[in-house]
Amino acid sequence: MSKIMYDYIENYIRKLIPEEQGFLKELEQYAKDNNVPIVQKETAKFLQLMVTIKRPLKILELGTAIGYSAILMATNSEAHITSIDRSEEMVNIALQNIHKYGMDKRINVILGDCMESLKGLKDEYDIIFIDAGKGHYEDFFNECLRMLKKDGIVIADNVLFRGMVANRELLQRRKITIVKRMKSYLDMVSNDKNLITSVIPMGDGIAVTTRR
Ligand SMILES: C[S@@+](CC[C@H](N)C(=O)[O-])C[C@H]1O[C@@H](n2cnc3c(N)ncnc32)[C@H](O)[C@@H]1O
Repeated sequence: MSKIMYDYIENYIRKLIPEEQGFLKELEQYAKDNNVPIVQKETAKFLQLMVTIKRPLKILELGTAIGYSAILMATNSEAHITSIDRSEEMVNIALQNIHKYGMDKRINVILGDCMESLKGLKDEYDIIFIDAGKGHYEDFFNECLRMLKKDGIVIADNVLFRGMVANRELLQRRKITIVKRMKSYLDMVSNDKNLITSVIPMGDGIAVTTRR
């Protein structure tokens, strides 16, 4: 389990969420069979809720993988989505999936490192979803802020990182740097007087930030 909340609560919440149907279910199965990390079930539901409430026109996603979360957000909104991933293999699979799902005109995938690619973007976005490079959220966020619409939101996944961010006893030695940097990200978005952030112990931990 995620070590973010009590197992029995997590199990209960997961059971409440109806199974995805059709193509999204196929993608979930592919991710499971091929060990591709995609958003957890409850995080997917949260993203679906956010795009339904916010009705975004433009979404920026950091971390495409096989295109699951991008397709999920596109399916539940009218937004145009730009998604970045540095893995050529993942981008190729994502492009195939996006094509198969008829989302070519709605989802644009950029092959490249997030930091480099972000520098080349000029648009403004209603939602920015950070789900790549756990050790670099603070840098990504600072680069993203100039592209966030006045009332836009940044959703960052994995901010509690298997509980390690909140509990030293869970900390694995080789994850020390990522955990330190994630703590620094959460301190920054929580203490900046110009921002409002809520950290939600769901999935692997989600932080939602907007401007004050
Ligand atoms: C957790 S997966 C994204 C999952 C996807 N958002 C979903 O839920 O369907 C993270 C992805 O980020 C990519 N990634 C990691 N670090 C990156 C970086 N610095 N720049 C670009 N992509 C990166 C990896 O190749 C991986 O495909």
